[in-house]
Amino acid sequence: MSKKYLVTSALPYANGSIHLGHLVEYIQTDILVRFLKHVGHDAHYMCADDTHGTPIELNASKQGIKPEELVAAIHEEHKKDFADFQIGFDYFYTTHSEENKEFAELVYNSLVEGGHTDTREIEQFYCEHDKRFLPDRFLRGTCPFCKTPEQYGDVCENCNRTYTANELKEPKCSLCGNPPVKKKTEHVFVRLGNFQEFLEGWVKEPGRLQDSTRKFVETWLKDGLRDWDITRDGPYFGFPIPGREDQYFYVWLDAPIGYVSTTAKYAKEKGLSFDEFWRSDDTEVIHVIGKDIIYFHTLFWPAMLKSAGLTLPSRVLVHGMLTVDGSKMSKSRGTFIKARTFLDHLDPQYLRFYYASKLSGTDEDLDLNFEDFVNRVNADFINKIVNLASRAIPFVHKNFGGTLGKLPTDEVAKTLIEDIKKHIPLVRENYEKYAFHHAVKEICAIADLANKYFQDAAPWALVKTDPDAALAVCTLATNCCRTVAALLKPVLPKYAGQIEEILNIEPMTWEDANAFDLEEQELKPFTRLAERIKMKVVNKVVEASKEDLKSKDDAKVEEKPREPIADEIEFDTFIKTDLRVAKIVEANLVEKAKKLIQLTLDVGDGDTRNVFAGIRKSFPDPSVLVGQQIVMVANLKPRKMKFGVSEGMVLATGPSDDQLVLVSAPAPAKPGDRVS
Ligand code: MSP
Ligand code: ZN
Repeated sequence: MSKKYLVTSALPYANGSIHLGHLVEYIQTDILVRFLKHVGHDAHYMCADDTHGTPIELNASKQGIKPEELVAAIHEEHKKDFADFQIGFDYFYTTHSEENKEFAELVYNSLVEGGHTDTREIEQFYCEHDKRFLPDRFLRGTCPFCKTPEQYGDVCENCNRTYTANELKEPKCSLCGNPPVKKKTEHVFVRLGNFQEFLEGWVKEPGRLQDSTRKFVETWLKDGLRDWDITRDGPYFGFPIPGREDQYFYVWLDAPIGYVSTTAKYAKEKGLSFDEFWRSDDTEVIHVIGKDIIYFHTLFWPAMLKSAGLTLPSRVLVHGMLTVDGSKMSKSRGTFIKARTFLDHLDPQYLRFYYASKLSGTDEDLDLNFEDFVNRVNADFINKIVNLASRAIPFVHKNFGGTLGKLPTDEVAKTLIEDIKKHIPLVRENYEKYAFHHAVKEICAIADLANKYFQDAAPWALVKTDPDAALAVCTLATNCCRTVAALLKPVLPKYAGQIEEILNIEPMTWEDANAFDLEEQELKPFTRLAERIKMKVVNKVVEASKEDLKSKDDAKVEEKPREPIADEIEFDTFIKTDLRVAKIVEANLVEKAKKLIQLTLDVGDGDTRNVFAGIRKSFPDPSVLVGQQIVMVANLKPRKMKFGVSEGMVLATGPSDDQLVLVSAPAPAKPGDRVS
C-alpha cells in the first residue's frame, strides 16, 4: 500500500561550504527517499539552509555585507553542490523566509499560551571589548559535565550534553580571548519539564529511535529537563521575538521549524495540502540527522511540535560522523574535503556508491578510507556492475545489429533467474531497514551471478557455432543489467538513467527488477558508463584540499606582516645555545599570574627542570600539555621569579598570544636529545 512520507535532512548552516561529512547525511537521506518513491510510496524530501545565528551575522559584518546577502550567496552554492551530487530535494528552501517567520511565531505563541514559557532576568556573559553578549558559540570554556576544555557555551562536542553558558567553566570570549563580564538581561525560557512525561512516552514508542539513541535520550530524561533559553540579544541575525525589544529567537528555535515552513512553501507551489503533511496522523515524518544534534531533535523539537499541534516525527534516524582515513577531517592533512573539490576531480557516483556500501542505519561513525574507497568502487561498481553491461550490450551491437533476441529457456538460464530472484526481496528488506550496506552487498551478489553466467556461457565463442544461443545469452545478461540497475537506482540514479537510455526503456520502477521480460528490444548505442578510479586522482583531491587552506593562511599572514629577520650572528654564537628535547610531566596554572604556566620538564637521565612559561592565554587548561615532547633552551641561566626559579625556557610560536603552539619534538626523539 502506498504511504505518505515526509523526509528531511538536517538543514545545513548557511555559513560554509558543503563537505564530505555533510554528504554522509544528504546521500543517506536521498537514497532513502529515492527508494521510497521507487517502490511506489508518496515520499517528499524537504530541506533548507539554516541561516540564522551569531556566526552568520558576524561573518557578514566582517565582509561588510548584509547577512541576507551572505546567505543568498551560500544558498546558490549549496544548491549547486547538492544538485551535482544528485541529491533530489523536492524543495530546498531557507529559514530566512516569511513562512518560517510565521511558523516560528505560531510555535512560540502556542508555547506562551500553553503556559510553557517563563520570563526571567538572567546574568549573561558580555564582552566589553566586542560590545556584545556572548551566547553559545562565542564563549569557550570547559564542559561542566565531562570537563573537556575548549567547548562552546551551549553544547559539548565530546559528551554531546547541552548546558547553559553560566555553567561553562573558565569562560572566555572566543572572538578576543578576554574573560567576559556578566551583565543582566531578561530572557524567555521554554519550560521543557512540562513535556517530560510526553517525551518519555514518545521516545519509548517502537520505531522512533535506534536503541543506542534511545538510551542516550533516556539518560537525559532521567537527569531531568532544564528550562531552555530561546532568547538572544541583538546584534543577532534571526526573527525578532514578538513584543520584545532587540531580542531574537535563538537559531535552534526556528531551524527545525524550517522543516515545516519549507513544506508550506512546497505545498503552496505544488498545489498540495499542507495539513496532509503536518496536521495528519497518516503521514510519516522521518528526520535524518547526525549524532551531534540528537538533543535538539529528540527533546526540544517534539516538545515544540506537540505544543503547536503539528505532526510528530515517527522516526529520527541518526547516523554517525565521518572520519577520513580513521581520523577526524583535518584541514592541514587535506582530509577536510569540500563537495566542490571532490566534484572537480571525481564522479559523484563514486561517493554515493561508497557511502551506500558503508551505511548501516546505525549511529556508528563511518570511515572514508581512501584505499578502501578506490578498491571498493573499482572492485564492485566498476568490475561487477559496469563490467556486466559493458560486455553484454556492446556485444549485441557488434554481432546482432543492436537488437536483443529471445531469452534462453535452458536449465542454466532458469536457475540463474531463480537464484537472482531470491536476492531481490533481501535487497528491498535491507533498504527498508536502512541497512544500505547490505542492500548493496545483495546487488553485488546478483551481479556476480550474472557475470559468472556470461563468462561460463562464453558467447564470444558460441557466436561462431550457434549465434542464436549466443544472442540468447546476451539477452539474459542484458536483462540482468536492467535488474541490477533497477535495484541500484536509489543509490545511482544517473547510472540507472544511462541504462534506461541504452536499453531504450521507460524509467524503471522496482518491479522492473523482477521482470526478466526484455526481448527483441532495439537498443540505443552504448555509451561509456563509468571509469575506474585512480589513486592518483584521489591524491589530487587531497592536495587541492590542502591548497584551500594554504590560501586562507596566506591571507592571514598578509594581515600581520612578518617580523624582520634579526642581525646576522656567528655560528659560534648560535651553538652556545643548548637546545634539548624535554617531556612535559606536569603543567599547572600559576595562581595570581595571568600569563604563566608552571611546567615540570623531564630532560633525560632522570633530570627534571622547573620552568615558568608565558603561554597561559593559549592553554587555559594546561593539562593538555602533559605528555608532549617539546624543545627547550637547557643552558639558560636560572632566573628567580616571584613564584619560584625558572630553570630554562620552552620554545613557542604562533600568530598571537592566544594561539601559541609549543615547538614539538615527537618520537623517535627522546628527552635529553640535543636539537641542532
Ligand atoms: N544547522 C544545523 C542543523 C539544523 S536542523 C534543524 C546543523 N548544520 S550543519 O551544517 O552543521 O550539519 C548539518 C548535518 O550534517 C547535521 O546532521 C550534521 O550531523 C551533519 N554533518 C556535519 N558534519 C558531519 C560529519 N563530519 N559527518 C557526518 N555528518 C556530519 O547542524
Ligand atoms: Zn571578546
